Amino acid sequence: MKIAIDGPAGSGKSTIARALAERCGMTYLDTGAMYRSVTWACLRDGVDPSDLAAVADTAARSDVRFVREKDGSQRVLLDGEDVTAQIRTPEVDRSVSIVSAVPAVRALMVERQRALAGEGDVVAEGRDIGTVVFPDAEVKVFLTADPRARAHRRAVQRAGGDAAAGVAAEVDPEQERAILEGIERRDRIDSTRETTPLRRADDAHLLDSSDLTVEQELEQIMGLIAAAR
Ligand code: C5P
Repeated sequence: MKIAIDGPAGSGKSTIARALAERCGMTYLDTGAMYRSVTWACLRDGVDPSDLAAVADTAARSDVRFVREKDGSQRVLLDGEDVTAQIRTPEVDRSVSIVSAVPAVRALMVERQRALAGEGDVVAEGRDIGTVVFPDAEVKVFLTADPRARAHRRAVQRAGGDAAAGVAAEVDPEQERAILEGIERRDRIDSTRETTPLRRADDAHLLDSSDLTVEQELEQIMGLIAAAR
């Protein structure tokens, strides 16, 4: 079974996809981490993100692997180096949508994502899973939330809290504003790029998480999975 979780930046896809994979005993595929790793490789090698040929070449040479830890967490290796933390930096946030818009990069990533998933059961999260990577996925969810709610969750997360788990943290309003701007910019580029922009598949279930707890979201999706089985 393939489960596709798509949606804009900060909509909570990772939390949901990871929890679903664990509950259902499926493989978790974080496709955003793959685009982020290629972006990190460009920054590392001094490649200008707007130089299409150089970006495509960097993507082709990059070796991105996922390593699952015993506690269920996942590390990302780029050319053998642990880049789990580096791919979440503001520098990568700023360039990742530019790199991801390069058609050759997308074609390559889709190919690698399908190879990683193989014939097994997978929960994949991204922007084009239900439309391009696994158009035949048995369950498709388009997860969204108000941009302010998404920015607030991210800001709490960066300050060491966890809004979903009710763990509070002191949030700097300036930082939250900057996060909101970054999220809106990324959404704009991701949904207006020419090649496979972010869009809800016609058969995807729309889930607005603005006023839902993680548990409520999971319950709804588990219902869809049960119905598809
Ligand atoms: O999911 P995450 O926010 O980590 O994704 C980072 C970026 O990677 C997105 O903003 C988007 O530009 C790109 N991406 C994509 N297609 C995917 C997953 C991510 O274009 N399937």
